[in-house]
Amino acid sequence: MSPTTGRNLLTDNPELYEARFPDPDRLAGRWTQDCLRRHAAGPRVLDLGCGTGRDAAHLHTAGRTVTGADLSETMLAHARTHHPGPSYVWADLHGFDLGRAAFDAVVCLDSSLLYCHTNDQLDGFLSSCRRALAPGGLLIAEMRNGAYFLGRTDLLDTPTVNAFTWQGIAYRSTTTLTVDRTAQLLRRTRVWTTNDTDDGSEPVAQHSAWRLLLPQELRHFLAAHGFEVLELHDGPGPRTEPPWQQGELPGTAADSDRLHVVARLRTT
Ligand SMILES: C[S@@+](CC[C@H](N)C(=O)[O-])C[C@H]1O[C@@H](n2cnc3c(N)ncnc32)[C@H](O)[C@@H]1O
Repeated sequence: MSPTTGRNLLTDNPELYEARFPDPDRLAGRWTQDCLRRHAAGPRVLDLGCGTGRDAAHLHTAGRTVTGADLSETMLAHARTHHPGPSYVWADLHGFDLGRAAFDAVVCLDSSLLYCHTNDQLDGFLSSCRRALAPGGLLIAEMRNGAYFLGRTDLLDTPTVNAFTWQGIAYRSTTTLTVDRTAQLLRRTRVWTTNDTDDGSEPVAQHSAWRLLLPQELRHFLAAHGFEVLELHDGPGPRTEPPWQQGELPGTAADSDRLHVVARLRTT
């Protein structure tokens, strides 16, 4: 049976997203709070591409004044109900205006930044961050590392199959990653099947892509938009193996499959 093409099953179903990518110890939120604390960031934080809101809510619990922003109204509705505390607003990270100097930090977790596919979108994102941040404000992002794919094909060769049960329904996803060298994108096709008879059990194919951003390219974009890079490294972080533990300091290499950046908006 050839798959039908659907919307994003995970971002359309935030509870399923949290079930598929559990973070019971709020590692991503704790790692972010640790970065903010180490660099003495002020209290006002914008979590851009906030998804289900669990990281935004963790930062709120840590005493920060948090705004979570996302393109998905479904995610925002879920965040307001399940992770209250922050205020949640609609915004497109390609270009947004949530007030001049309204934040002391912008955070962008789990590759949200890589939804900037083109250079224009990256420029739009960074100019919007520059307007949103107070002088000396921080940009913290955690994402896939484009450099990992230089000379390595291990993530490309074999489709990854994941099976899990949520609310009595068995889900199975087969994910294939391909490199689009012309667009400099990592393209993902994920085909879902379920045993849900209401759904007709038809396979659903979903397509998305991330920018393959290289560390030195990221440095260049940041410098061009007035940011000084304070940290740029492949771990430890919330999605590295082994994962970051409280108290661990960042490394200096940028070779593995995750990239973490902390940059400060220059004051002049
Ligand atoms: C992989 S999820 C990460 C969610 C959250 N940051 C986390 O770490 O759990 C990516 C999120 O980015 C959002 N997103 C995708 N494109 C976006 C855009 N152009 N502007 C704002 N949010 C976007 C999606 O709706 C989704 O919630």
